[in-house]
Amino acid sequence: MSILDKHATLERNATLLLVGSLLVVSIGGIVEIAPLFYLENTIEKVEGMRPYSPLELAGRDIYVREGCYVCHSQMIRPFRDEVERYRHYSLAAESMYDHPFQWGSKRTGPDLARVGDRYSNEWHVQHMIEPRSVVPESVMPSYAFLKETPLEVTNVAMNLKANRAVGVPYTDEMIDNAAQDLKAQADPNADTAGVEERYPKAKLGDFDGDPQKLTEMDALIAYLQMLGTLVDFSTYDDTTGYR
Ligand code: HEC
Repeated sequence: MSILDKHATLERNATLLLVGSLLVVSIGGIVEIAPLFYLENTIEKVEGMRPYSPLELAGRDIYVREGCYVCHSQMIRPFRDEVERYRHYSLAAESMYDHPFQWGSKRTGPDLARVGDRYSNEWHVQHMIEPRSVVPESVMPSYAFLKETPLEVTNVAMNLKANRAVGVPYTDEMIDNAAQDLKAQADPNADTAGVEERYPKAKLGDFDGDPQKLTEMDALIAYLQMLGTLVDFSTYDDTTGYR
């Protein structure tokens, strides 16, 4: 029986054709689905990454609420022009605690993945209040109201818990201290030992220029100033990920 005859038999027998098709489709399906079960292994562990501090997380929520991602990406692609402009390309691990991730797909403004430490807090406050006062040609909207809006601090622990439910490794200690840590990070007079221990490299102090008030501007700038600063790229090896 030649191969053509065999195929003719298959094509003429509906049951056989159905079983054969199912077999082929399921092989294709498994090839696509199986790697998803091992997703954890595909994200390389990178030193320095940690869950967001409660204040950074609150700032991130404001970033999402205000739709900053509509104009800003947080994803530096591994192309020379991008790396020269924004520094080291983004690693998968750098957005591993983002729910949802903020890669974005539109750059009306620049990529923000490594905007942390690039400007002073004062610059950010001024820029958020009136972008054109520091960048005359800017088309970014004004977010002055953030400086007048007190930061909502009633659901801080719940916010961490919700993130833990989707896989962010917040400890019980972090959750118990969440509200206190949030306030301490933005208070120049507070004892910040706990914040520094739980959230290494967290920026401390007043962010919005008014130490008396805890505003949404404090949270947003704490978040922006952290972006891209957690991984130390002077010790990161592109080929292995480790020194
Ligand atoms: C309508 C589009 C648009 C929206 C929405 C927007 N931006 Fe911008 N953003 C821009 C543009 C354009 C620039 C470049 C000019 C400038 O610096 O103002 C910019 C610049 C920036 C910069 C300076 C980046 C750098 O490297 O110089 C930061 C920080 C920033 N935006 C933060 C935000 C945040 C936070 C939000 C949300 C609260 C936001 N932007 C919303 C368009 C936007």
